[in-house]
Amino acid sequence: MKKLIAGNWKMNGDVAANAVLLQELLSGVRDPACAIAVCVPAVYLAQVQVLVTGSPIELGAQDVSAHEAGAYTGEISATMLKDFAVRYAIVGHSERRQYHGESDAQVAAKVGRALAAGITPIVCVGETLAEREAGKTEEVVKRQLAAVIHANGHCISEIVVAYEPVWAIGTGKTATPEQAQQVHAVLRAQLKAATPQAQRIQILYGGSMNAANAAELLAQPDIDGGLVGGASLKAPDFLKIIAAAH
Ligand code: PGA
Repeated sequence: MKKLIAGNWKMNGDVAANAVLLQELLSGVRDPACAIAVCVPAVYLAQVQVLVTGSPIELGAQDVSAHEAGAYTGEISATMLKDFAVRYAIVGHSERRQYHGESDAQVAAKVGRALAAGITPIVCVGETLAEREAGKTEEVVKRQLAAVIHANGHCISEIVVAYEPVWAIGTGKTATPEQAQQVHAVLRAQLKAATPQAQRIQILYGGSMNAANAAELLAQPDIDGGLVGGASLKAPDFLKIIAAAH
């Protein structure tokens, strides 16, 4: 399976900086062995769409509404994202679960909207440090993924999953390749029970992935790519991660 390296810019960037970053990336990714995406703030989708059209870099959003249309001030629907040729949407990132109170049910509904619009949801799951220390890692990630499978079982093979231990995000503390692989294997088994196509579902690792640790993480049998935050904002670092994904 081709690996996927997706950058999550989070709430970073501006028109000038985006143009420079994309120019550096585009000149460095002539013939990549993996799929590549940048998930940009919604206001820059139109700008980045123009910059990446016809290139190996695909466009991603960082969220999508659970609603189809109507009186939901501030929300952005999956069909609106599709208007800008958005290919991927991050759904259920831990920062949204934590700061915006997104529940498993809301995440599942968002996944459904993305799939219905032909957008691949990158479904994030992951435990907090307290949950890991309490021995609840498997229970938490399985509960988060089960909600998505339960609501979207018929097209579950169309999703991408991202395992992002909350304690590793933006902290510089990466899960060891063994720790990550262990959880990825649990998620793969759960997907296998839901669909005969589980082997082709990409399961990404996210949480302080960088140029130095990417190769070792990506060498694990069930790690099919990365969801990269901080390191995706620096072209040389992101390019090194892309080069490690083959
Ligand atoms: P990080 O973020 O690479 O900066 O840890 C990853 C993410 O939150 O998607």
